[in-house]
Amino acid sequence: MSGDVGLIVGSGLTALAPRIVTSESVATPYGTPSSRVLTVEIADRRLACIARHGTDSTIPPHAVNYRANVRALHDAGVRRLIGVNLVGAIEAGFEPGTLAIPDQLIDYTAGRESSFGEGDDLETRHVDFTEPFDPILRGAIAGAAVACGHSIRRGVYGVTQGPRLETAAEVDRLERDGCTMVGMTAMPEAVLARELGIDYALLAVAVNHAAGRSPGAAPIHAEIERSVTDGMARVAELLEALLPQLLRDAV
Ligand code: HPA
Repeated sequence: MSGDVGLIVGSGLTALAPRIVTSESVATPYGTPSSRVLTVEIADRRLACIARHGTDSTIPPHAVNYRANVRALHDAGVRRLIGVNLVGAIEAGFEPGTLAIPDQLIDYTAGRESSFGEGDDLETRHVDFTEPFDPILRGAIAGAAVACGHSIRRGVYGVTQGPRLETAAEVDRLERDGCTMVGMTAMPEAVLARELGIDYALLAVAVNHAAGRSPGAAPIHAEIERSVTDGMARVAELLEALLPQLLRDAV
């Protein structure tokens, strides 16, 4: 039995190498999720997990069926959801390989299915999204990072449409808007979780300086290749510390 905690992991699920206990093919009213719903075991705790880009990483950010992913996890009993995703670092001094827990987001995506559209009253139709990430879950992730000795950035996650990376001028604009980091998958995942009453927080891994921000003008893909393994190793360590706290009574 898994508890009420779930994971959606982007590129890098294989780096986490969780033990897969069960794997279930599910359907939702919104279509098929990106992967089977996996029950994975981390730190002797079982939790439901979906690979956001598919287990073979073939689904690009703009083509992910976010509604099916979130609904499938909800149907599996998930009420606290941690999204793991890779981001580009915008803020000065934010180095690839560093972990981040965004506390706000700005949505620059377009044309994604971003609501379950089932709300027949004011509150569910216009969900309160003042705080897009659950503060208790964010605090728990931050506590686990401290316990592991990992430094953690906070800040604003700018969600771009992709799949292309940004231009340098777009990154300048994101910074003027107050974004600390940029990625492509926090939305509509975060708001869909909110619509279903799931507490949601993100654990982001900076894998490159955002476009135009590398001090040595390193090519972005070279930076990503260099830092993704270390970054995901930090995520794995953090989850090992976090899950026993979140799932105290579960096995
Ligand atoms: N931009 C958008 N998404 C990303 C980046 C980036 O630089 N790096 C990893 N995901």
